[in-house]
Amino acid sequence: MNRILPKVSAENLTQFETLALASPMNLADGHARQHLTAAQGKIVSELPDLWAEAVLRPVDEIEREAAESFFGMLGQHGHPFAAGRTLSCYSSSVAMEILARSLVTTTDAVALIHPTFDNIPDILRGVGLRLVPVEEDRAHDEDLPAELLEEVGCVFITTPNNPTGRVMSEDRLRRLAGQCAEHGVVLALDTSFRGFDPAAQFDHYAVLDASGCRWVVIEDTGKLWPTLELKIGWLVRSAEVDLPIEKIHSDILLGTSPLVLLLVKRFADDGADGGLAELQRTIADHRALVRAALDGVPDVSFVDEHARVSVERLHVGSRLGMDVWSAVRSRSLYVLPCQKFHWARPQEGERMLRLALSRDPSTLLASARVLRSALLDTAELQG
Ligand SMILES: Cc1ncc(COP(=O)(O)O)c(C=O)c1O
Repeated sequence: MNRILPKVSAENLTQFETLALASPMNLADGHARQHLTAAQGKIVSELPDLWAEAVLRPVDEIEREAAESFFGMLGQHGHPFAAGRTLSCYSSSVAMEILARSLVTTTDAVALIHPTFDNIPDILRGVGLRLVPVEEDRAHDEDLPAELLEEVGCVFITTPNNPTGRVMSEDRLRRLAGQCAEHGVVLALDTSFRGFDPAAQFDHYAVLDASGCRWVVIEDTGKLWPTLELKIGWLVRSAEVDLPIEKIHSDILLGTSPLVLLLVKRFADDGADGGLAELQRTIADHRALVRAALDGVPDVSFVDEHARVSVERLHVGSRLGMDVWSAVRSRSLYVLPCQKFHWARPQEGERMLRLALSRDPSTLLASARVLRSALLDTAELQG
């Protein structure tokens, strides 16, 4: 049944995601909401033991083990935890805030990939930084112009990107890091979605260190596993980064929970033991399920053919994404309109929706049926 709902005003993607939190058909946020696997369920059933372990053991030892397991699972063997350059944060957004506050002490401008998740530009702008958009195709296919690198103090790339899923290749990262080294610019990466795509799991730290550039990487445990927002954002930096990251981290937090770190270690060990490959297969199955359920709807297409991340963009043709968003919302389904990913030119996203795939198959199927019917209705209206 269609319900008449009050008009909403959402100023950013997270506010759109918040509207969806109470709905059983929530394909809005990219957080993991699928059921635990059997192996993950067993870890959760051992939480009282993990608690006791967290109370007894030194936190620096637990933190090291969590980092070794998580970075190891993702092929990031060159990570510098042992050198004291890996800080844990409550979330990747907290890591981002620390990076932004550090950057603004040395520069007034950042070149940022376009489109990307809007809390990245919002946090950077929030500390007063000016942003220069770098089109995703350009970042992946061509050298950045020297004039741009003269103008900014940092180049910021999300890889795999949210919402496109596009991954920066090893060769391209090497070249970009070389350019940043040449111009004395910090290269910052957000790799929150790398667990979903093996193409993003070459050792980035080896490439960055070999380039000689100043670099910062934000890693995230939060997008992979349904751990009820128990997550760690890691803030990793090069030896000579010349930013007050450690000081600003200590302005904001003493440290993360050893219980959460132990949980991350156990989930990452399971991931390395086949759980990550299983997750990648699950997301591929969910992508196929959604694509099949929308097959044959006129004037729609999936934008990112080869994406492996846990979100999927749908182009809704001549319809407006917000019209489809409103139509499905009246049937209790929530998706994400894409304008705000296009933080420099929102109109470029106005005919796209983003669907989350980290859900149970039954939720995805029910949601895809509602979406299909709304798209068919709006096709009739257009026609
Ligand atoms: C690429 C990227 N980085 C960072 C974040 C922020 O994650 P959190 O809300 O866990 O801090 C998000 C959120 O979706 C994201 O997509």
